[in-house]
Amino acid sequence: MFVFKTRPKAWFSLAALFPVLPLLNGCVTGAPTISPEARWTDDRGLQIQAHGGGILKYGDTYYWFGEDRSRGLDRSKRYVSCYCSTDLAHWKFCNRVVQLSDPEHLGWGWVLERPKVYYNAKTGKFVMYAHIDNARYQFARVAVLTCDTVDGNYRYLKSFRPLGHESRDIGQFVDDDGTAYLIFEDRPYGFRIAKLSEDYLGIEKEMCLIPEHMEGGALAHYDGIYYVLGSSLSGWRPNPNKYATATRLTGPWSKFQDIAPPGTKTYGSQSTMLLKVTGTKETTVIFMGDVWKPRALWDSRYLWMPLRIGGGKVWLPQPEDWTLNVKTGEALVKNKG
Ligand code: GAL
Repeated sequence: MFVFKTRPKAWFSLAALFPVLPLLNGCVTGAPTISPEARWTDDRGLQIQAHGGGILKYGDTYYWFGEDRSRGLDRSKRYVSCYCSTDLAHWKFCNRVVQLSDPEHLGWGWVLERPKVYYNAKTGKFVMYAHIDNARYQFARVAVLTCDTVDGNYRYLKSFRPLGHESRDIGQFVDDDGTAYLIFEDRPYGFRIAKLSEDYLGIEKEMCLIPEHMEGGALAHYDGIYYVLGSSLSGWRPNPNKYATATRLTGPWSKFQDIAPPGTKTYGSQSTMLLKVTGTKETTVIFMGDVWKPRALWDSRYLWMPLRIGGGKVWLPQPEDWTLNVKTGEALVKNKG
């Protein structure tokens, strides 16, 4: 930096001598590698704790929120951590944004899972939804927490059953027009997609009930088609995740089909979100999945891959290292050329 600012001529002549320098720079800032299931660490060198998570893009920065299952935490509390990145590959720890003590008196083993954060431009508030439950998953509600800053300490506001329905796994979807939706699993019936109220603190209306029993619900709007996907109900154990399509959120939805060879059980992962990266050249939809390790939840891994998507079809390629350029939107699976 010193050389660049004070002696530009010397810097340029150095660049002329070593023409590879700008190329190297391009590698670092342009298209970093994402390695599914590897041990992902943050800027502190600690394993990233953002399980069952979701991503909010705010400005040019991606904020990743998820369950913090670190070892050695207070067992009576539940935690959510937040990380930020501008390239979706290098993550800086921001804050343990939730450190909550059983706000609904649910007792031993209470659950706060699958946190998702929305930014409400009208109120200027960040609103977090999460699944809150007792150890036997009978409470079946959403928790709502808010914060004035994206990575500040979120304050617990309330819990409720969306439109009076049971709600366990939740998912987040913000459409291209900015409308925010909650996906929630309503065990007796299937799963529902519902529009959030204007302040995001409640539900305005149901868009549809999809009569399939699915968890880890995720949605993407790509090229005029809505793609919904999720896993079936097998707890921490993986299963073949499936997808359906519709041209409107209200349906009708197509029949569900596999996103990957069913024998691989989604390559051992479970969906948590579909993240659309719209760049200057391409739009990539990333499948974000969790590879759960029920006996060591803290060591659960992340399986993120660019989906093959379009024309009403989705396919999750076999996990391989891949590169992503968030500016251009280009994703390149390395061994596939
Ligand atoms: C999964 C669910 C997870 C967690 C787990 C507990 O089906 O997706 O979020 O609730 O069950 O067994």
